[in-house]
Amino acid sequence: MSTNITHAGVAIVAPRAPLQIIQVPDTKPSAGQVLVEVHWVGSTPFDLHQADGGLGVTPPQILGDTAVGAVVEVGEGVEHLKVGDQVFGFLPPVHKQAAQQEFITIPAHLLGKVPQNVKPEAAATVPSSFVTTWHALTSDLSIDLPYPKPADYTPPNASAPILLWGASTSVGQYVLQVLKHYGYTNIPVTASPRHHDLLRSLGATETYDYTSSEDLARLRDVLAQHGSGERVKVLDNIGSVEGSMEPLSRITPPGSLVAVLLPVIKTHAEQDRAPEYTLDTHSLVNWKEGVQTVGVRTHFYEANEVLKRDLQPLIMPELLVQGVITPNKTRVVEGSTLLERAQNAIDILRRRERVPDEKVPSLAHLSDWESNPAFARTTANHTRNE
Ligand SMILES: NC(=O)c1ccc[n+]([C@@H]2O[C@H](COP(=O)([O-])OP(=O)(O)OC[C@H]3O[C@@H](n4cnc5c(N)ncnc54)[C@H](OP(=O)(O)O)[C@@H]3O)[C@@H](O)[C@H]2O)c1
Repeated sequence: MSTNITHAGVAIVAPRAPLQIIQVPDTKPSAGQVLVEVHWVGSTPFDLHQADGGLGVTPPQILGDTAVGAVVEVGEGVEHLKVGDQVFGFLPPVHKQAAQQEFITIPAHLLGKVPQNVKPEAAATVPSSFVTTWHALTSDLSIDLPYPKPADYTPPNASAPILLWGASTSVGQYVLQVLKHYGYTNIPVTASPRHHDLLRSLGATETYDYTSSEDLARLRDVLAQHGSGERVKVLDNIGSVEGSMEPLSRITPPGSLVAVLLPVIKTHAEQDRAPEYTLDTHSLVNWKEGVQTVGVRTHFYEANEVLKRDLQPLIMPELLVQGVITPNKTRVVEGSTLLERAQNAIDILRRRERVPDEKVPSLAHLSDWESNPAFARTTANHTRNE
Protein backbone atom coordinates (compact mmCIF):
# COMPACT_ATOMS: atom_id res chain seq x y z
CA MET A 1 0.00 0.00 0.00
CA SER A 2 1.43 3.41 -1.02
CA THR A 3 1.79 6.04 1.73
CA ASN A 4 1.88 9.84 1.43
CA ILE A 5 5.59 9.83 2.34
CA THR A 6 7.92 10.01 -0.62
CA HIS A 7 11.55 9.19 -1.27
CA ALA A 8 14.04 9.96 -4.03
CA GLY A 9 14.85 7.75 -6.97
CA VAL A 10 17.03 8.00 -10.08
CA ALA A 11 14.82 7.92 -13.14
CA ILE A 12 15.03 7.50 -16.90
CA VAL A 13 12.87 10.29 -18.28
CA ALA A 14 13.43 9.67 -22.00
CA PRO A 15 15.79 7.47 -24.06
CA ARG A 16 19.37 8.86 -23.92
CA ALA A 17 18.26 11.91 -21.88
CA PRO A 18 20.21 12.80 -18.72
CA LEU A 19 18.92 10.90 -15.69
CA GLN A 20 16.78 12.81 -13.20
CA ILE A 21 15.85 12.56 -9.54
CA ILE A 22 12.14 12.05 -8.99
CA GLN A 23 10.07 11.53 -5.86
CA VAL A 24 8.10 8.30 -5.51
CA PRO A 25 5.73 7.18 -2.73
CA ASP A 26 6.89 4.80 -0.02
CA THR A 27 5.00 1.52 0.00
CA LYS A 28 4.31 -0.48 3.14
CA PRO A 29 5.37 -4.12 2.77
CA SER A 30 2.47 -6.56 2.43
CA ALA A 31 2.64 -10.31 3.17
CA GLY A 32 5.87 -11.84 1.89
CA GLN A 33 7.50 -8.45 1.27
CA VAL A 34 10.15 -6.35 3.00
CA LEU A 35 11.02 -2.67 2.94
CA VAL A 36 14.71 -2.05 2.30
CA GLU A 37 16.75 1.12 2.73
CA VAL A 38 19.13 1.07 -0.23
CA HIS A 39 22.84 1.70 0.39
CA TRP A 40 24.62 0.46 -2.72
CA VAL A 41 23.56 -0.21 -6.28
CA GLY A 42 25.25 -2.40 -8.87
CA SER A 43 25.33 -0.94 -12.38
CA THR A 44 25.10 -3.45 -15.22
CA PRO A 45 24.84 -3.21 -19.01
CA PHE A 46 21.10 -3.71 -18.59
CA ASP A 47 20.97 -0.19 -17.10
CA LEU A 48 22.40 1.11 -20.35
CA HIS A 49 19.99 -0.97 -22.42
CA GLN A 50 17.19 0.71 -20.47
CA ALA A 51 18.60 4.24 -20.33
CA ASP A 52 19.73 4.44 -23.97
CA GLY A 53 17.69 1.75 -25.66
CA GLY A 54 14.47 2.16 -23.69
CA LEU A 55 14.26 -1.60 -23.15
CA GLY A 56 11.05 -2.27 -21.20
CA VAL A 57 10.91 1.36 -20.05
CA THR A 58 7.84 3.56 -19.65
CA PRO A 59 9.30 6.92 -18.54
CA PRO A 60 9.65 8.25 -15.97
CA GLN A 61 10.99 4.94 -14.65
CA ILE A 62 13.37 4.21 -11.79
CA LEU A 63 16.62 2.62 -12.96
CA GLY A 64 18.54 -0.41 -11.74
CA ASP A 65 18.18 -4.10 -10.99
CA THR A 66 20.74 -4.81 -8.23
CA ALA A 67 20.75 -3.42 -4.70
CA VAL A 68 22.35 -3.79 -1.28
CA GLY A 69 20.70 -2.31 1.78
CA ALA A 70 19.21 -2.78 5.23
CA VAL A 71 15.81 -4.29 6.00
CA VAL A 72 13.72 -1.66 7.81
CA GLU A 73 10.31 -3.34 7.87
CA VAL A 74 9.15 -6.92 7.40
CA GLY A 75 5.76 -8.03 6.05
CA GLU A 76 3.76 -10.95 7.37
CA GLY A 77 5.09 -14.44 6.74
CA VAL A 78 8.69 -13.51 5.94
CA GLU A 79 10.90 -15.98 7.76
CA HIS A 80 14.45 -15.64 6.48
CA LEU A 81 14.86 -11.88 7.05
CA LYS A 82 14.45 -9.52 10.01
CA VAL A 83 14.80 -5.77 10.60
CA GLY A 84 18.47 -4.74 10.48
CA ASP A 85 19.66 -7.51 8.14
CA GLN A 86 22.00 -6.37 5.40
CA VAL A 87 20.63 -7.82 2.17
CA PHE A 88 21.46 -8.04 -1.52
CA GLY A 89 19.42 -9.03 -4.53
CA PHE A 90 18.69 -9.03 -8.24
CA LEU A 91 15.39 -7.20 -8.68
CA PRO A 92 12.83 -6.85 -11.48
CA PRO A 93 13.70 -3.75 -13.53
CA VAL A 94 10.23 -2.28 -13.13
CA HIS A 95 9.54 1.18 -11.77
CA LYS A 96 8.29 0.29 -8.30
CA GLN A 97 10.86 -2.38 -7.49
CA ALA A 98 13.93 -0.99 -9.25
CA ALA A 99 17.16 -0.55 -7.32
CA GLN A 100 18.16 3.10 -7.62
CA GLN A 101 15.81 4.57 -5.05
CA GLU A 102 16.18 5.29 -1.36
CA PHE A 103 13.63 2.68 -0.26
CA ILE A 104 12.26 -0.34 -2.09
CA THR A 105 9.38 -2.60 -1.15
CA ILE A 106 10.04 -6.03 -2.63
CA PRO A 107 9.22 -9.73 -2.24
CA ALA A 108 11.59 -11.20 0.34
CA HIS A 109 12.53 -14.14 -1.91
CA LEU A 110 14.48 -11.70 -4.09
CA LEU A 111 16.96 -11.10 -1.28
CA GLY A 112 19.70 -12.95 0.56
CA LYS A 113 21.75 -11.82 3.53
CA VAL A 114 25.13 -10.31 2.64
CA PRO A 115 27.76 -12.70 4.05
CA GLN A 116 30.19 -11.26 6.58
CA ASN A 117 33.15 -12.08 4.35
CA VAL A 118 31.85 -9.80 1.55
CA LYS A 119 31.97 -5.99 1.55
CA PRO A 120 28.63 -4.37 0.67
CA GLU A 121 29.97 -2.62 -2.42
CA ALA A 122 31.31 -5.94 -3.70
CA ALA A 123 28.02 -7.64 -2.80
CA ALA A 124 26.26 -5.16 -5.10
CA THR A 125 28.14 -6.63 -8.05
CA VAL A 126 27.09 -10.23 -7.47
CA PRO A 127 23.32 -10.83 -7.85
CA SER A 128 22.70 -9.86 -11.48
CA SER A 129 25.61 -11.90 -12.82
CA PHE A 130 25.18 -14.80 -10.41
CA VAL A 131 21.43 -15.23 -11.02
CA THR A 132 22.10 -15.01 -14.76
CA THR A 133 24.75 -17.71 -14.41
CA TRP A 134 22.52 -20.16 -12.56
CA HIS A 135 19.45 -19.51 -14.69
CA ALA A 136 21.30 -19.75 -18.01
CA LEU A 137 23.11 -22.97 -17.06
CA THR A 138 20.13 -24.81 -15.57
CA SER A 139 17.12 -23.45 -17.47
CA ASP A 140 18.57 -22.63 -20.88
CA LEU A 141 21.41 -25.15 -21.23
CA SER A 142 19.94 -27.97 -19.06
CA ILE A 143 23.19 -28.35 -17.14
CA ASP A 144 22.78 -30.14 -13.81
CA LEU A 145 23.64 -28.10 -10.71
CA PRO A 146 21.97 -29.97 -7.82
CA TYR A 147 21.93 -27.94 -4.61
CA PRO A 148 23.29 -28.70 -2.12
CA LYS A 149 25.91 -30.54 -4.16
CA PRO A 150 25.89 -34.19 -3.09
CA ALA A 151 29.18 -35.52 -1.67
CA ASP A 152 31.36 -37.09 -4.39
CA TYR A 153 29.09 -35.63 -7.07
CA THR A 154 30.11 -36.20 -10.68
CA PRO A 155 27.94 -34.63 -13.40
CA PRO A 156 26.35 -37.11 -15.83
CA ASN A 157 28.19 -35.62 -18.82
CA ALA A 158 31.16 -34.10 -17.03
CA SER A 159 33.41 -34.17 -20.11
CA ALA A 160 30.90 -32.90 -22.68
CA PRO A 161 32.11 -29.55 -24.04
CA ILE A 162 30.64 -26.32 -22.66
CA LEU A 163 32.00 -23.37 -24.64
CA LEU A 164 31.91 -19.93 -23.01
CA TRP A 165 32.18 -17.07 -25.47
CA GLY A 166 33.32 -13.92 -23.64
CA ALA A 167 34.37 -15.69 -20.43
CA SER A 168 36.03 -12.61 -18.93
CA THR A 169 32.68 -10.82 -18.66
CA SER A 170 31.06 -10.35 -15.28
CA VAL A 171 28.75 -13.28 -15.95
CA GLY A 172 31.43 -15.50 -17.53
CA GLN A 173 33.60 -15.45 -14.41
CA TYR A 174 30.79 -16.81 -12.23
CA VAL A 175 29.89 -19.42 -14.85
CA LEU A 176 33.43 -20.77 -14.71
CA GLN A 177 33.54 -20.90 -10.91
CA VAL A 178 30.20 -22.71 -10.72
CA LEU A 179 31.05 -25.25 -13.46
CA LYS A 180 34.41 -25.98 -11.84
CA HIS A 181 32.76 -26.51 -8.44
CA TYR A 182 30.36 -29.07 -9.93
CA GLY A 183 33.13 -30.99 -11.68
CA TYR A 184 32.68 -30.09 -15.34
CA THR A 185 35.96 -30.84 -17.05
CA ASN A 186 35.71 -29.59 -20.63
CA ILE A 187 35.24 -25.81 -20.67
CA PRO A 188 36.94 -24.04 -23.59
CA VAL A 189 36.59 -20.25 -23.45
CA THR A 190 37.24 -17.18 -25.55
CA ALA A 191 38.62 -13.93 -24.13
CA SER A 192 41.46 -11.48 -24.65
CA PRO A 193 44.84 -13.13 -23.92
CA ARG A 194 45.49 -10.82 -20.94
CA HIS A 195 42.68 -12.66 -19.11
CA HIS A 196 43.67 -16.22 -20.00
CA ASP A 197 45.61 -16.98 -16.79
CA LEU A 198 42.80 -15.65 -14.63
CA LEU A 199 40.20 -17.67 -16.53
CA ARG A 200 42.23 -20.88 -16.24
CA SER A 201 42.44 -20.32 -12.50
CA LEU A 202 38.64 -19.98 -12.39
CA GLY A 203 38.02 -23.22 -14.30
CA ALA A 204 38.61 -22.73 -18.04
CA THR A 205 40.25 -25.81 -19.54
CA GLU A 206 41.35 -24.20 -22.83
CA THR A 207 41.64 -20.51 -23.72
CA TYR A 208 41.29 -18.89 -27.14
CA ASP A 209 41.70 -15.30 -28.32
CA TYR A 210 38.44 -14.31 -30.03
CA THR A 211 40.26 -11.73 -32.17
CA SER A 212 42.61 -14.34 -33.69
CA SER A 213 41.39 -16.22 -36.77
CA GLU A 214 44.00 -18.94 -36.07
CA ASP A 215 42.66 -19.45 -32.56
CA LEU A 216 39.07 -19.61 -33.79
CA ALA A 217 40.02 -22.17 -36.49
CA ARG A 218 41.68 -24.31 -33.79
CA LEU A 219 38.62 -24.00 -31.56
CA ARG A 220 36.32 -25.00 -34.45
CA ASP A 221 38.42 -28.13 -35.06
CA VAL A 222 38.49 -29.04 -31.37
CA LEU A 223 34.69 -28.73 -31.10
CA ALA A 224 34.17 -30.71 -34.32
CA GLN A 225 36.12 -33.67 -32.88
CA HIS A 226 33.53 -34.26 -30.21
CA GLY A 227 31.24 -36.08 -32.63
CA SER A 228 27.49 -36.43 -32.63
CA GLY A 229 27.23 -38.33 -29.32
CA GLU A 230 28.05 -35.27 -27.26
CA ARG A 231 26.03 -32.18 -28.02
CA VAL A 232 28.21 -29.08 -27.73
CA LYS A 233 26.66 -26.52 -25.39
CA VAL A 234 27.58 -22.86 -25.78
CA LEU A 235 26.95 -19.83 -23.61
CA ASP A 236 27.35 -16.55 -25.49
CA ASN A 237 28.04 -14.02 -22.72
CA ILE A 238 28.19 -11.12 -25.19
CA GLY A 239 25.07 -11.37 -27.37
CA SER A 240 26.35 -9.25 -30.22
CA VAL A 241 25.45 -10.05 -33.84
CA GLU A 242 28.91 -9.22 -35.18
CA GLY A 243 30.96 -9.63 -32.00
CA SER A 244 29.86 -13.09 -30.90
CA MET A 245 26.99 -14.72 -32.83
CA GLU A 246 28.58 -14.38 -36.26
CA PRO A 247 31.94 -15.94 -35.23
CA LEU A 248 30.13 -18.56 -33.16
CA SER A 249 28.01 -19.56 -36.15
CA ARG A 250 31.24 -20.40 -38.01
CA ILE A 251 32.84 -22.55 -35.29
CA THR A 252 29.87 -24.22 -33.58
CA PRO A 253 29.23 -27.76 -34.89
CA PRO A 254 25.85 -28.88 -36.29
CA GLY A 255 23.34 -29.81 -33.61
CA SER A 256 24.84 -27.61 -30.88
CA LEU A 257 22.76 -25.81 -28.28
CA VAL A 258 23.61 -22.09 -28.02
CA ALA A 259 22.27 -19.85 -25.25
CA VAL A 260 22.68 -16.13 -25.95
CA LEU A 261 22.44 -13.43 -23.25
CA LEU A 262 19.71 -11.04 -24.35
CA PRO A 263 19.26 -8.51 -25.72
CA VAL A 264 21.14 -9.29 -28.92
CA ILE A 265 23.05 -6.12 -29.74
CA LYS A 266 22.89 -5.07 -33.39
CA THR A 267 24.46 -1.66 -32.70
CA HIS A 268 26.13 -0.72 -29.41
CA ALA A 269 25.09 2.51 -27.69
CA GLU A 270 27.53 5.35 -28.39
CA GLN A 271 27.69 8.96 -27.25
CA ASP A 272 26.15 10.11 -30.54
CA ARG A 273 24.30 6.96 -31.65
CA ALA A 274 21.30 5.13 -30.26
CA PRO A 275 21.68 1.38 -29.73
CA GLU A 276 19.74 -1.21 -31.69
CA TYR A 277 18.61 -4.44 -30.08
CA THR A 278 16.72 -7.55 -31.08
CA LEU A 279 15.51 -10.68 -29.30
CA ASP A 280 16.12 -12.79 -32.41
CA THR A 281 18.97 -15.24 -31.69
CA HIS A 282 18.56 -17.33 -34.81
CA SER A 283 17.91 -15.70 -38.15
CA LEU A 284 20.57 -12.96 -38.25
CA VAL A 285 23.48 -15.36 -38.77
CA ASN A 286 23.92 -18.66 -40.61
CA TRP A 287 23.99 -21.29 -37.89
CA LYS A 288 24.99 -24.78 -39.01
CA GLU A 289 22.35 -27.47 -39.47
CA GLY A 290 20.46 -28.43 -36.32
CA VAL A 291 21.93 -25.70 -34.14
CA GLN A 292 19.33 -24.72 -31.57
CA THR A 293 19.52 -21.22 -30.10
CA VAL A 294 17.81 -19.81 -27.05
CA GLY A 295 17.76 -16.28 -25.60
CA VAL A 296 18.60 -15.98 -21.90
CA ARG A 297 16.05 -13.88 -19.99
CA THR A 298 17.20 -13.89 -16.41
CA HIS A 299 14.35 -11.76 -15.14
CA PHE A 300 12.13 -14.81 -15.71
CA TYR A 301 14.11 -17.06 -13.35
CA GLU A 302 11.26 -17.06 -10.81
CA ALA A 303 9.22 -19.26 -13.15
CA ASN A 304 11.19 -22.13 -11.61
CA GLU A 305 9.66 -22.49 -8.12
CA VAL A 306 12.79 -24.02 -6.60
CA LEU A 307 15.01 -21.24 -7.92
CA LYS A 308 12.46 -18.67 -6.82
CA ARG A 309 12.59 -20.03 -3.26
CA ASP A 310 16.29 -20.82 -2.92
CA LEU A 311 18.49 -19.05 -5.43
CA GLN A 312 18.91 -15.60 -3.84
CA PRO A 313 17.99 -16.32 -0.17
CA LEU A 314 20.09 -19.49 0.13
CA ILE A 315 22.36 -20.57 -2.73
CA MET A 316 23.94 -17.18 -3.55
CA PRO A 317 25.00 -16.32 0.05
CA GLU A 318 26.11 -19.87 0.83
CA LEU A 319 28.37 -20.16 -2.22
CA LEU A 320 30.00 -16.85 -1.24
CA VAL A 321 30.53 -18.03 2.33
CA GLN A 322 32.03 -21.31 1.11
CA GLY A 323 34.31 -19.43 -1.28
CA VAL A 324 32.91 -21.34 -4.27
CA ILE A 325 32.35 -17.95 -5.91
CA THR A 326 34.13 -14.71 -5.13
CA PRO A 327 32.89 -11.29 -6.26
CA ASN A 328 34.47 -9.85 -9.39
CA LYS A 329 36.79 -6.93 -8.93
CA THR A 330 34.73 -3.91 -7.89
CA ARG A 331 34.94 -0.36 -9.13
CA VAL A 332 33.16 2.29 -7.09
CA VAL A 333 31.79 5.08 -9.25
CA GLU A 334 32.63 8.53 -7.93
CA GLY A 335 30.52 11.69 -8.01
CA SER A 336 29.59 14.45 -5.62
CA THR A 337 25.86 13.85 -5.76
CA LEU A 338 23.72 10.83 -6.13
CA LEU A 339 22.58 11.93 -9.58
CA GLU A 340 26.15 12.53 -10.70
CA ARG A 341 27.20 9.05 -9.60
CA ALA A 342 24.21 7.51 -11.37
CA GLN A 343 24.97 9.42 -14.58
CA ASN A 344 28.69 8.60 -14.36
CA ALA A 345 27.90 4.91 -14.12
CA ILE A 346 25.79 5.07 -17.29
CA ASP A 347 28.50 7.02 -19.10
CA ILE A 348 31.13 4.43 -18.13
CA LEU A 349 28.93 1.64 -19.48
CA ARG A 350 28.29 3.58 -22.69
CA ARG A 351 32.00 4.19 -23.23
CA ARG A 352 32.72 0.50 -22.45
CA GLU A 353 35.45 1.95 -20.32
CA ARG A 354 38.17 -0.27 -18.94
CA VAL A 355 41.07 0.78 -16.74
CA PRO A 356 44.05 -0.09 -18.99
CA ASP A 357 46.00 -2.30 -16.58
CA GLU A 358 42.95 -3.83 -15.01
CA LYS A 359 43.20 -7.63 -14.93
CA VAL A 360 39.47 -8.29 -14.88
CA PRO A 361 36.43 -6.34 -16.01
CA SER A 362 35.25 -3.86 -13.41
CA LEU A 363 31.64 -3.17 -12.61
CA ALA A 364 30.38 0.32 -11.95
CA HIS A 365 28.65 1.11 -8.68
CA LEU A 366 26.92 3.96 -7.07
CA SER A 367 28.16 5.15 -3.73
CA ASP A 368 26.24 4.95 -0.50
CA TRP A 369 23.06 7.04 -0.62
CA GLU A 370 23.74 8.27 2.88
CA SER A 371 27.05 9.83 1.84
CA ASN A 372 24.98 12.47 0.08
CA PRO A 373 23.28 14.58 2.79
CA ALA A 374 20.63 15.75 0.36
CA PHE A 375 19.26 12.25 0.27
CA ALA A 376 20.16 11.05 3.72
CA ARG A 377 17.28 9.53 5.56
CA THR A 378 17.84 7.24 8.49
CA THR A 379 15.82 4.24 9.46
CA ALA A 380 14.76 6.01 12.65
CA ASN A 381 13.41 8.97 10.69
CA HIS A 382 11.60 6.70 8.37
CA THR A 383 9.79 4.90 11.15
CA ARG A 384 8.99 8.10 13.02
CA ASN A 385 7.59 9.84 9.95
CA GLU A 386 5.10 7.09 9.43
N1 LIG B 1 19.80 -11.57 -20.59
C1 LIG B 1 20.34 -11.61 -19.39
O1 LIG B 1 19.76 -12.22 -18.50
C2 LIG B 1 21.65 -10.94 -19.14
C3 LIG B 1 22.20 -10.94 -17.87
C4 LIG B 1 23.46 -10.37 -17.67
C5 LIG B 1 24.11 -9.78 -18.76
N2 LIG B 1 23.50 -9.77 -19.97
C6 LIG B 1 24.15 -9.15 -21.13
O2 LIG B 1 25.42 -9.70 -21.33
C7 LIG B 1 26.30 -8.73 -21.86
C8 LIG B 1 27.58 -8.72 -21.06
O3 LIG B 1 27.32 -8.29 -19.74
P1 LIG B 1 28.47 -8.25 -18.62
O4 LIG B 1 28.00 -7.40 -17.51
O5 LIG B 1 28.87 -9.65 -18.27
O6 LIG B 1 29.60 -7.52 -19.44
P2 LIG B 1 31.00 -6.87 -19.02
O7 LIG B 1 31.41 -7.41 -17.71
O8 LIG B 1 30.87 -5.42 -19.20
O9 LIG B 1 31.94 -7.50 -20.17
C9 LIG B 1 32.93 -6.77 -20.77
C10 LIG B 1 33.94 -7.74 -21.38
O10 LIG B 1 33.36 -8.36 -22.50
C11 LIG B 1 34.40 -8.85 -23.31
N3 LIG B 1 34.01 -8.71 -24.71
C12 LIG B 1 33.59 -7.59 -25.32
N4 LIG B 1 33.31 -7.86 -26.61
C13 LIG B 1 33.56 -9.18 -26.81
C14 LIG B 1 33.44 -10.05 -27.92
N5 LIG B 1 33.01 -9.61 -29.11
N6 LIG B 1 33.75 -11.35 -27.74
C15 LIG B 1 34.18 -11.82 -26.54
N7 LIG B 1 34.33 -11.04 -25.46
C16 LIG B 1 34.03 -9.73 -25.59
C17 LIG B 1 35.63 -8.02 -23.02
O11 LIG B 1 36.56 -8.97 -22.51
P3 LIG B 1 38.10 -9.06 -22.98
O12 LIG B 1 38.76 -7.99 -22.17
O13 LIG B 1 38.47 -10.46 -22.61
O14 LIG B 1 38.17 -8.79 -24.44
C18 LIG B 1 35.16 -7.06 -21.94
O15 LIG B 1 36.14 -6.91 -20.92
C19 LIG B 1 25.55 -7.39 -21.79
O16 LIG B 1 25.08 -7.03 -23.06
C20 LIG B 1 24.40 -7.68 -20.87
O17 LIG B 1 23.23 -6.94 -21.11
C21 LIG B 1 22.30 -10.32 -20.18
